[in-house]
Amino acid sequence: MSRTPQGQRASLDKQPHEVAAMFDGVAARYDLTNTVLSFGQDRSWRRATRAALGLRPGERVLDVGAGTGVSTEELAHSGAYAVGADLSLGMLQAGKRTRPSVPLLAGDALRLPFADASFDAVTISFALRNVNDTDAALAELARVTRPGGRLVVCEFSTPVNPAFRTVYLSYLMRSLPAVARAVSSNPDAYVYLAESIRAWPDQAALAGRIGAAGWGRVAWRNLTGGVVALHRAVRN
Ligand SMILES: C[S@@+](CC[C@H](N)C(=O)[O-])C[C@H]1O[C@@H](n2cnc3c(N)ncnc32)[C@H](O)[C@@H]1O
Repeated sequence: MSRTPQGQRASLDKQPHEVAAMFDGVAARYDLTNTVLSFGQDRSWRRATRAALGLRPGERVLDVGAGTGVSTEELAHSGAYAVGADLSLGMLQAGKRTRPSVPLLAGDALRLPFADASFDAVTISFALRNVNDTDAALAELARVTRPGGRLVVCEFSTPVNPAFRTVYLSYLMRSLPAVARAVSSNPDAYVYLAESIRAWPDQAALAGRIGAAGWGRVAWRNLTGGVVALHRAVRN
């Protein structure tokens, strides 16, 4: 864990206790900081995630790395039964305060507290990047999904236009930490955010990892020019 006068951030090898402690530190202002740093785009990314899942009323959907439940709450608008799981008790407590009606549980993406084939659909928003074994998490998501069930991964990705990509990377590395200092309860976590986005596989590489972890019919769609990508897949 790196420490500075402002707070703490996880290292890029993403040890679970470091990641949980870092999110405990941002929990209090997580929702607000997200909306400010994404210029309000986070709401449309969440709506697109819900649409990509194609949820029907009465289906069961699991939101892994649910944090404060902001992503889980959006899923429930479909009429499906949506439950969130997260490693950070601080994020879960913040969620219980602000969204008492959203079911949130403590759970590790690598050892989910559910039986095989429990869900019609699973999703993970802005959290797969934080799990220290991406492939094991994708396989664990497949384990709890019924055959024919759906996966949507919503994650930061690689902007497709080279000029926009240059501007975006400069925002990530310079402006984002500065803005985070003004609004976040742990600005240092946003240095980790920028570094972890840069180190993350691009759209095609992530699709290959999903396909190798028990998922078929993998496809993706770029949002905001590829700042975010939605990867969809069906459980084999
Ligand atoms: C950036 S937040 C995303 C929260 C929410 N899904 C959203 O869209 O705003 C990432 C979350 O992933 C959680 N997380 C990281 N590693 C995890 C793991 N191994 N198992 C479960 N949750 C994890 C963190 O605690 C954090 O709450």
